[in-house]
Amino acid sequence: MNGLRSDTDTPPDALMQVNGDELAPAGGRRPRRLVVAMTGATGVILGIRLLEVLQAQEVETHLVVSDWAERTIRIETDYNLSDVQSLATRTYRYDNQAAPISSGSYPVDGMVIVPCSMKTLAEVAHGLGGNLITRAADVMLKEHRPLVIVPRETPLSEIHLRNMLTLSRMHGVTIVPPMPAFYNRPASIGDVVDHIVARVLDQLGIGNDLTPRWSLSPRGRAPRSQRNSESVPTA
Ligand SMILES: Cc1cc2nc3c(=O)[nH]c(=O)nc-3n(C[C@H](O)[C@H](O)[C@H](O)COP(=O)(O)O)c2cc1C
Repeated sequence: MNGLRSDTDTPPDALMQVNGDELAPAGGRRPRRLVVAMTGATGVILGIRLLEVLQAQEVETHLVVSDWAERTIRIETDYNLSDVQSLATRTYRYDNQAAPISSGSYPVDGMVIVPCSMKTLAEVAHGLGGNLITRAADVMLKEHRPLVIVPRETPLSEIHLRNMLTLSRMHGVTIVPPMPAFYNRPASIGDVVDHIVARVLDQLGIGNDLTPRWSLSPRGRAPRSQRNSESVPTA
């Protein structure tokens, strides 16, 4: 990370701890019950970290892990499935479309798919409800409830981009690609993960101080690297 620093980098006082509770909650109030789905894209640690934070914030979580997410958890982390499930309030089998979250009559405040594979993205974009994850997402869409999708693939094909556009135009949907920021000088993978999880929480109106937020310096001046530019990082 030190190799990326230069004299024109953001001075440290440009990053301040801003109270995350100042965020306007999605839908007017802080979510109390969320569906969290993990699918088989790389980056399962993002879902695990989100569950940790939601547990600490006493948000009720209803977790569904796809078969390929379970495999990816074993490949990418030291967790096993039951470790991850222990972070959630309730868990359901991927093929259990009779679960409460399969119905719009069951009250939940929103859903996050993190990470979201291109396969699940496509299924959600096209209204296929062949497993509990895609069915629960379809419920969010028809009920106009918040649905945050963290799609992970690179590079992206036209099909991937079209599916994201289709979904982003739907009421309640936010696409939050797991793209790191560097203005906060991440020193570890944990910092990068926390930044992305913080952006997901922001979309749900859940206050958090996982990462420093961009702000003008206390002297009210933009940092030197910003002074000749209109653009200010926002995410
Ligand atoms: C280690 C590993 C990493 C993968 N990473 C991605 C990825 O980043 N994005 C993606 O769309 N698919 C990825 N895949 C492929 C998906 O797992 C595969 O398409 C699977 O059918 C997705 O099913 P699901 O959405 O039901 O979990 C990966 C597979 C493995 C084994």
